[in-house]
Amino acid sequence: MKEYVLLTGGMGFIGSHTAVCLLKAGVNVVIADDLSNSSASVLDGVEAITGVRPPFVRCDCADRTAVDRVFDTYPVSAVIHFAGYKAVGESVEKPLAYYRNNLNCLLTVLDAMRDHGVNTLVFSSSATVYGEGTGRPFTESSPTGGCTNPYGQTKLMAEQILKDLCRADARFTAVLLRYFNPVGADESGLIGETPRGVPNNLMPYVMQVADGRLPHLRVYGNDYPTPDGTGVRDYIHISDLASGHLAALTWASSHPGCHAFNLGTGTGTSVLELVHTFERVNGVAVPRVVEGRRSGDTAVCLADPSLANRVLGWRAERTLEDMCRDAWRWEKKQNEGTAHE
Ligand code: WQD
Repeated sequence: MKEYVLLTGGMGFIGSHTAVCLLKAGVNVVIADDLSNSSASVLDGVEAITGVRPPFVRCDCADRTAVDRVFDTYPVSAVIHFAGYKAVGESVEKPLAYYRNNLNCLLTVLDAMRDHGVNTLVFSSSATVYGEGTGRPFTESSPTGGCTNPYGQTKLMAEQILKDLCRADARFTAVLLRYFNPVGADESGLIGETPRGVPNNLMPYVMQVADGRLPHLRVYGNDYPTPDGTGVRDYIHISDLASGHLAALTWASSHPGCHAFNLGTGTGTSVLELVHTFERVNGVAVPRVVEGRRSGDTAVCLADPSLANRVLGWRAERTLEDMCRDAWRWEKKQNEGTAHE
C-alpha cells in the first residue's frame, strides 16, 4: 500500500522546499496547511519542479477532526511538523496566540499520530533554543533556554514535550532539527520565501531593496565584536536545509528516541559580507544606512554541524554565492509573474 510522509505547514518556505526534495527522492508527500502564511499556488511551483502535484489538505493542524481526516485518508508513515507561527517580533506582541497555536498544533498532531499508529516525527526546531550563547559555535550539547522571545520558547517547550514523549513511549522517534538562518530559493526560481509585509529577516529585505521595493537596508549595528562590527550568522541554503530533512527522515526509521541535530554550515557571515556578496554576484546595488542595534540580537550565532555531518551523513553544500544568486532569481521571477508564491 502506498505510504505518505505528512508535511504539516508544508506550503511554507521550508516546508515547500522539503516537499520538493522528498518528491525528487521518490518519497510520497501529503501536505496539510491552513495557508495562514502561505499560498496554494506554491503547489504549482512544486509540480513544475518535480512533475508531481502532492495531495494538499487545507486545515488547521490544531483541529483534531481535520487532522484525523488526513490520517484516515492517507496512509501516513511519518510526519515532518512545520506548522506554526514563526515571526519573532510578532510573538513578543502576541504571546498567547503563539503559545496556543504552536503548542496546540504539535499536541493535536501527536495525538492523531498515536491514534493512527504513526511513531516517527521530524520537528522543525530552531537555533533560537540556544538563547544568547557565548559566540562560539553551538553544539547539540550547548545549554538551551534563555530564549529572548515567545517564538523561541514555543520551540523549546515543543522539544521538551517530544523528549518526554520519547521517554514514555520507547517506540517513538523524534528528530529535532535546529535550523540556523535559512535563505535563498530553489535553483529554478519557482518557489522561495514570501514574507508578509515588510521583511524582518536580512536576505528578503536585501532582495526588496535591490529590487527597488524598499529604499535602503538598515544595518542594525556596526559596533559588535565581529570583524566588521556587524552581526554574524550561519546562513544555510534552503535546499541544503531541505535535504537535511530527508537525511533525518531516513535515519529516524531505525533510531527510536529523541535526537537533536544542528542544520547549519559552520561558517559565519556578517551582514556586510552578505550584502557585498549579493551585490557582486547579482550586479546590483543595495543602498544601506547603519542604525543602532536591534533589541534581542546577538553578535554571533554559529552552528557546529559536525553531528549531523557524521550521524546523518548530511552536509550543507551550497555557498553564500549560491544563496544570493538563487534568492535574486526568485525575486526577479516573482516580478515577472512566473514564480509561484
Ligand atoms: C540576521 C542579521 C540582524 C535585518 C531570525 C530568527 C530566528 C530564525 C532565523 C526561525 C542580524 C541583521 C537583519 C535587517 C539587519 N528564524 N539585520 N537589517 O535574527 O539571526 O534570526 O531568523 O527560527 O529564530 O530570530 O535573522 O535575518 O533577522 O538577522 O542588519 O533589516 O541581519 O541584526 O545580525 P536572525 P535576521
